[in-house]
Amino acid sequence: MAIGTNPLHPLFGVEILGIDVRRVDEATFADVVQAFDEHSVLLFRRQPISDEEQIAFSRRFGPLETTIRTIISEARTPREISSLANVDAEDRLIPHGDTRNLFNAGNQMWHSDSSFKRVPALASLLSAREVPPEGGETQFASMRVSYERLPEAMKRFLEGRVAVHSFAYSRGLVGDGLLPLDHAAQVPPIAQALVRANPAHGRKTFYVGSHACEILGMPTNDARTLLRELLELATRPEFVYTHRWQPGDLVMWDNRCVLHRGRPWDEDKYRRVMHRTTVAGDGPTAPDVPAVAVAPARETDIAWGRAQLASLWAAGDTVS
Ligand code: OGA
Ligand code: MN
Repeated sequence: MAIGTNPLHPLFGVEILGIDVRRVDEATFADVVQAFDEHSVLLFRRQPISDEEQIAFSRRFGPLETTIRTIISEARTPREISSLANVDAEDRLIPHGDTRNLFNAGNQMWHSDSSFKRVPALASLLSAREVPPEGGETQFASMRVSYERLPEAMKRFLEGRVAVHSFAYSRGLVGDGLLPLDHAAQVPPIAQALVRANPAHGRKTFYVGSHACEILGMPTNDARTLLRELLELATRPEFVYTHRWQPGDLVMWDNRCVLHRGRPWDEDKYRRVMHRTTVAGDGPTAPDVPAVAVAPARETDIAWGRAQLASLWAAGDTVS
């Protein structure tokens, strides 16, 4: 491969050196795609790009998702951009405890982007426009690395199974009423394969995250225990890469096999403005299941979800 790389973590992730993402020729782009399939997380430093330039680079990987209309989306950004920012359209800090910040706080649970959509995301590209001087890191964990370490009996047990992912379920762990009913209707629970293979090289991964809440044909209790165990296996501290952002960083990750989460920062004091583009996957991962049922979150589910968001409540917030 012609491009230079530096490892980000012993198990996955590389920095791509010497590239301006606004000017990448076809041969170099093919190398970037290969690095993406191989390493799952790519960092490009010093990329002061506009939304349009970010969209143009991202489109080279495939068609982009457009944001679902939520309480967060703003008319002034292109529909291909998800804005993760603690500032409003008038550029003012969003007050502490505001529903918009709580909604984004769902990103502090380990997840894979758009796993709650019938066609889940292939890749996300997150561009750091403004970063806090401390906190606000993004963490990554490779489910493929952990899958490959599973006992063979467990791999056989998981093979062919189908999980259910639901955005209403995962946001419900953060707090009631964060997802108004008309938005929930845009994102009904859907089926996703529990084991996926990357078509480029065949390497398999399990596929879980905060939106996963059932496994077809399995009692809810057993399914949630298993989903949680897999997630905890993948996110053991020594398996996690923590990215400390510098302005101008562009980080791209493979949602098929990588979990990520944002880390808290002092939202009252520091601005954090990140723009994301999301490359759509090439199709559903499992056959459609009509009217998938999701059992309500139990006390233990809520406690587990909220433990991941402890900083919110430590700061004295209440969510009804
Ligand atoms: C995302 C995401 C976390 C963060 O952009 O999809 O989950 O650190 N971000 O902002
Ligand atoms: Mn995300």
